[in-house]
Amino acid sequence: MSGRGRFITFEGIDGAGKSSQIEAAVGHLRRRGHQVLQTREPGGTPIGERLRELLLNQPMHLETEAMLMFAARREHLEKLVLPALARGEWVVCDRFTDATYAYQVGGRGLDRGRFEVLERWVHAGFEPNLTLLFDLDPAIAAQRVAATGHAPDRFEREQLDFFERVRNAYLARAAAAAGRFRIIDASAPIDAIRERVLDAVERL
Ligand code: TYD
Repeated sequence: MSGRGRFITFEGIDGAGKSSQIEAAVGHLRRRGHQVLQTREPGGTPIGERLRELLLNQPMHLETEAMLMFAARREHLEKLVLPALARGEWVVCDRFTDATYAYQVGGRGLDRGRFEVLERWVHAGFEPNLTLLFDLDPAIAAQRVAATGHAPDRFEREQLDFFERVRNAYLARAAAAAGRFRIIDASAPIDAIRERVLDAVERL
C-alpha cells in the first residue's frame, strides 16, 4: 500500500509497559497493508546502537549523555527514519526527542535552552505525527522493572523522585502539544491499553 508515511513514537518512564504495545501497533499496521519500520532511540543504526550501549551502561558527564542522545538521533533520522518516510513507510519508534526533554531536562535538570538549540540543529520543523505517552505511577513502574529480573541500566537505577520528574515533564509536554499526544493510562488492563493504542493508530 502506498501513501504518505507517518511517524509514531512511544514514550513513558521505564517500566510503563510500552514494548508489548509497540509490537501490537506494528502488527496492526502491517495487517492493514502498510510497510512499517520498527525502530528505537537511542539506537536503530549501527552507530546508534553502539552509542546506546555506552549511554545505558557507561558512567558519563550528563552533558555528554545529552549530546550523545542527539548524535544518535542525527544518525537515525538521516540513515533510517527520513528515508523510510520518504518511501511512504510508517515508522514506529520507541522513544524520540520527548524522551530527551523528559529525562535530560526533567529528570537530570539540565538547561532546556540548550536542548532547544540541539533540537533545531538535529530536526528543525520535524516531529512525530502521533506520540503515545504511557503514563504510570513511578512506584508501580519500578516494581515492573524489578520483576523483569534483568540488571538495571544507568537510567533504571535512578530513584523514584527522578522518575516523578520525568513523568511530570512528559505530562507537561503532552499538555503543551495535545494534538500530537495521546496519553495512555498504563495502569489499565492490558487489553484496554491495546484497544486505546490501536484506536489512536487507526485515527491517523
Ligand atoms: P528503553 O527505551 O526504555 O529501552 P528498554 O526497554 O530496553 O530499557 O531505554 C532507553 C533509556 O534511554 C530509557 O531509560 C530512557 C533513556 N533515554 C533518555 O534518557 N533520553 C533520550 O532522549 C532517549 C531517547 C532515551
